[in-house]
Amino acid sequence: MLEVVILAAGKGTRMRSPLPKVLHQLAGQPLVSHVLATARALEPKKIHLVVGHGAEQVQSTVAAEDIEFHVQAEQLGTGHAVAQALPACDPNSTVLVLFGDVPLLGAETLAALIARVDTAPVMLAAKLDDPTGYGRVIRDASGAFISVVEQKDAGPHELAVQEVNTGVLAAPAGLMSTLLNRVGNNNAQQEYYLPDVLGLARADGLTVQVAVTADPLEMMGVNDRLQLEALERTLQQRRAEELMREGVAIADRSRIDIRGSLTCGVDVSIDVNTVFEGSVSLGDGVRIGANCVIKNASIADGTDVQPFCHVEDATIGAECKIGPYARLRPGTQLGNTARIGNFVETKNAHFGEGSKANHLAYVGDARIGDGCNIGAGTITCNYDGVNKHRTQLGDGVFIGSNSTLVAPVEIADGGFVAAGSVVTKPVGCDELAVGRARQKNISGWQRPTKNKDSK
Ligand code: UD1
Ligand code: MG
Repeated sequence: MLEVVILAAGKGTRMRSPLPKVLHQLAGQPLVSHVLATARALEPKKIHLVVGHGAEQVQSTVAAEDIEFHVQAEQLGTGHAVAQALPACDPNSTVLVLFGDVPLLGAETLAALIARVDTAPVMLAAKLDDPTGYGRVIRDASGAFISVVEQKDAGPHELAVQEVNTGVLAAPAGLMSTLLNRVGNNNAQQEYYLPDVLGLARADGLTVQVAVTADPLEMMGVNDRLQLEALERTLQQRRAEELMREGVAIADRSRIDIRGSLTCGVDVSIDVNTVFEGSVSLGDGVRIGANCVIKNASIADGTDVQPFCHVEDATIGAECKIGPYARLRPGTQLGNTARIGNFVETKNAHFGEGSKANHLAYVGDARIGDGCNIGAGTITCNYDGVNKHRTQLGDGVFIGSNSTLVAPVEIADGGFVAAGSVVTKPVGCDELAVGRARQKNISGWQRPTKNKDSK
């Protein structure tokens, strides 16, 4: 039986931010959410989250049924933090300790580590070119584990060791409790160090197993904004590479950000500087132009999204053409082969098959039938200052340029609105609506002449 203890009480002073460190975002999600997702993949009986600095904010952000929170009021060290959660653990379970600020550990690495827990603790180490700042793994002449020595407590020989403690360890809960009770704080930082349980176990004659991660990037922690950015770039690069291996044509793997999940069909191409947020799916042959931001959207086969588009909470059919410079706001649904062109904003609007708004329009709270054409400069006046109203167009409707559709209003199949009209009344089937002042031409009109005094 597995229980996971995640430490997330630290302040994160070096982030220089009022936001608790574990809530800073990596790939669109708080750091601690990544750790929680990894923990959940291991299917533990319970997840314990030790919170302290910004406890309420952390709790309200990640609260879920499978998480039990423990407050560490004073941050007296990682050992002290684990001690806050241990009384709530079943003594017969295996406890796995993770840090809330080490977000990229793989579930497979952890599963392999847990599998090695027997009667003694096991730890995860890594070999680093530059071990500065980490606790060093000290071994005897035969290579057996002796202890972990923190950077601040280390002498010159110890500092030269390149094998470091990742912070991840697992042990039987009962043993962990007994050992933690014996950990003191007689060290450079006057903290109760969690890795001291490993040294104590070894002193008791237990063999502490040290697993070494094959991928040191997994154990990268976030202590400041530089490390956060480095981790973000690493993660994004890996995601891009995975997609490329699956056959997605990504123009530049260093200029795409996936802050959520992106699923792609066959032969999708994605140009530079694109950001995907939430859950996005792209059908076969979809092309995403440069500088697009696409959030929670599904885009069907063959659709072409040209550069500089912003799409949010939208469902787009097949073979559509969007942009450049289109803004599709929440609730936009496009039928197949629809076209939304430059400087067109849509919101809560359904476009039928083949309908077009190619230039400079606002279409909000509207249902547009099939095969409609909405001219440049058309506005649905959906808001009277208090309430929102709907605009409905049947099939084959033509709206001339610069028309104002004052909602609520309906235009039936085949309706035709003359350019420049202000439409306030329903338009029937195949009717022409002209709602503008008639043109008057005045012949012999005299242009104004310049006043003598005017400068
Ligand atoms: C720790 C390890 C070090 C290891 C390194 C790996 C100890 C004493 N040292 O050092 O051996 O190489 O991680 O990254 O464990 N936390 C609490 N309460 C506390 C103190 C810390 O919840 O009282 C949490 C922090 O929020 C953080 C984690 O524990 O998520 C690690 O704490 P941190 O201060 O970053 O430890 P390091 O000095 O990095
Ligand atoms: Mg740290």
